[in-house]
Amino acid sequence: MATIKAVRVHTFGGPEVLSLDEVPMPQPRDDEVTLKVYAASVNPVDYKIREGTSGEDLPVTLGRDVSGVVELCGTRAHTLKKGDPLFAMLGPDRGGNAEYVVVKATEAAAKPESLSHVEAAAVPLAGITAWQGLFDHGGLEPGQRVLIHGGAGGVGHLAIQLAKATDAFVATTVSAEDFDFVHRLGADQIVDHKKQRFEDVVEEVDVVFDLVAGDTQDRSWTVLKPGGRLVSTLSEPSPEQARRHQAHGISYIAQPNAAQLADIGRLIDAGKVKPFVQATYPLEEVAKAEERLEKEHARGKIVLRIAA
Ligand SMILES: NC(=O)c1ccc[n+]([C@@H]2O[C@H](COP(=O)([O-])OP(=O)(O)OC[C@H]3O[C@@H](n4cnc5c(N)ncnc54)[C@H](OP(=O)(O)O)[C@@H]3O)[C@@H](O)[C@H]2O)c1
Repeated sequence: MATIKAVRVHTFGGPEVLSLDEVPMPQPRDDEVTLKVYAASVNPVDYKIREGTSGEDLPVTLGRDVSGVVELCGTRAHTLKKGDPLFAMLGPDRGGNAEYVVVKATEAAAKPESLSHVEAAAVPLAGITAWQGLFDHGGLEPGQRVLIHGGAGGVGHLAIQLAKATDAFVATTVSAEDFDFVHRLGADQIVDHKKQRFEDVVEEVDVVFDLVAGDTQDRSWTVLKPGGRLVSTLSEPSPEQARRHQAHGISYIAQPNAAQLADIGRLIDAGKVKPFVQATYPLEEVAKAEERLEKEHARGKIVLRIAA
């Protein structure tokens, strides 16, 4: 039986538990395809799964987003053929830190032509999280105002660009060393979260997009307009505070969405959104990549080169 390399976790723990295993070549069913993975990006969810905070069954293969080309087609995958370039946010039941992975039709879109596979792999999970947070849950509309906490990270740097592409006013909180970075992405107001209290300088917004949680989330109610929305990727905003401020608190888990990924891809090819890849590592150095993301909080994204 043909085998491939995949990064798996057999016991929860630090980067040392990551194991580069030989596993069977994954086979597509129905409208699925098997993708030859050229690149896969690293997300905080990877080290959270590895550390055991999300309670997955073991062993688990890490990696939620990939860019690559179709290798095998399922019997009903009529619109795709070998060699087609795709990028995808995978469901939690598979991992893309591998040489090949099965991708469902509901997860993948054509890779943006203007991006390399390394750049494309940086987009799916972070881009879809930003899209669903801003638009599906935040209801952000042209001309409205949004405050994005953590604007220099994987989700934040795409959220700034998606909000600007919608003609929203964007305020964001970042560290001082990321000022120029988020300014170039189009942020209208930039607050150094270590030196300034954002609630003292940001005027009322329609949406707070919270990628940080804790005290940052608690202090966000006072910058919301009545009827505004505090949307968090991390923790459930207090219903009591929401009532007190006549606002809405929402937390959510991003879900794969092929149509939204295709829309993001079109914005990328139109030059309105561009992922930033701070560093790349070979698959064999996945432990270093995860450690860097967890300890240093990368600017933009960190990507694993697999066949790229
Ligand atoms: N619910 C979901 O479906 C979902 C999906 C994606 C991500 N997430 C979660 O959302 C969070 C963000 O994800 P990500 O991929 O963007 O992570 P990331 O790439 O690690 O970025 C986090 C950013 O937040 C910044 N930051 C930390 N403390 C801050 C503060 N007090 N104020 C402003 N910025 C601060 C960090 O930079 P500095 O520390 O240098 O300032 C970093 O740039 C993670 O915890 C992740 O697990 C959830």
